[in-house]
Amino acid sequence: MIKRPRRLRHNSAIRSMVRETTLNIDDLVYPLFVIEGEGVKNEISSLKGQYHYSLDKLEDEINEISRLGIQAILLFGLPNMKDSLASEAYRDTGIVQRALKEIKRINKEMLVITDICMCQYTDHGHCGVLYGEYVDNDKTLDYIAKIALSHARAGADMVAPSDMMDGRISSIRSLLDKNGFSNVSIIAYSAKYASAFYGPFRAAANSAPGFGDRKTYQMDPANSDEALREVELDLDEGADIVMIKPALAYLDVVQRVKYNYNVPVAAYNVSGEYAMIKTASEKGLIDEQKIVLEILTGMKRAGADIIISYHAKDVAKWIKGGK
Ligand code: PBG
Repeated sequence: MIKRPRRLRHNSAIRSMVRETTLNIDDLVYPLFVIEGEGVKNEISSLKGQYHYSLDKLEDEINEISRLGIQAILLFGLPNMKDSLASEAYRDTGIVQRALKEIKRINKEMLVITDICMCQYTDHGHCGVLYGEYVDNDKTLDYIAKIALSHARAGADMVAPSDMMDGRISSIRSLLDKNGFSNVSIIAYSAKYASAFYGPFRAAANSAPGFGDRKTYQMDPANSDEALREVELDLDEGADIVMIKPALAYLDVVQRVKYNYNVPVAAYNVSGEYAMIKTASEKGLIDEQKIVLEILTGMKRAGADIIISYHAKDVAKWIKGGK
């Protein structure tokens, strides 16, 4: 007798009845770029459809995001001034700190996650303090923790260290706890690869390294056992959520992490992944909506509980409107 799996594909009601994975608006985190200045809402040339906002232009955007049902954003700041120690990153009146206060004023329910790193704020563009041309791990930890504390003071709900220094989660956790922020969670960029997929982001955030690359701190794309070791360390040190980044070329890593640890896993659908889709759909080569939903569903199927994506607003519209 022929076995007939096609029976369960017969019509849309049956297909939806047996569907294993569903993308929800609650799964999505939308990245947002804030910039110094006034009256600025400028489209980012490397990330079509994404904008740099000055603080006075945030209100409409935050309201739109929450109207769409998205409850979490990931905040990136572009400072006016850079120096070797990223002092704008931990200044209590820095761009992200002021944005946090403004966003919480507009909508205190919005869950605000902040990227914790030095690269946008250093004049050399590396993610830490330099010793010669080497990024000094242990010196950097003090700064990373200081940035996280200053974001927590300004109202961050979660901090997301993306620097890939060893020991950063415990440094952040202990400084936050010491200062009464034991309820601020840590979403760790645990397995962050040295990837070419960050190109459009670096143009958007003006954060490309001035010399060399990030291979001495970000992971080798060829490794996945190492990702498990990184995840394990971050969990031991107190991470609440672990992240894999980029997402698309690393879904095997997402799956291994999800199956090995019973913790929430986030996947970052990064700038290069977004830009490729945007460019191909502008050229009429692909159907943007179908492709994006297929890719994000794939991330979910691989094991991601949370997806950080520049497509989040579009996806929220598409899901609400029905597929
Ligand atoms: C900062 C940071 C980067 C991204 C997020 N945080 C860039 C980098 O590591 O060079 C990339 C995000 C994206 O490509 O969408 N360290």
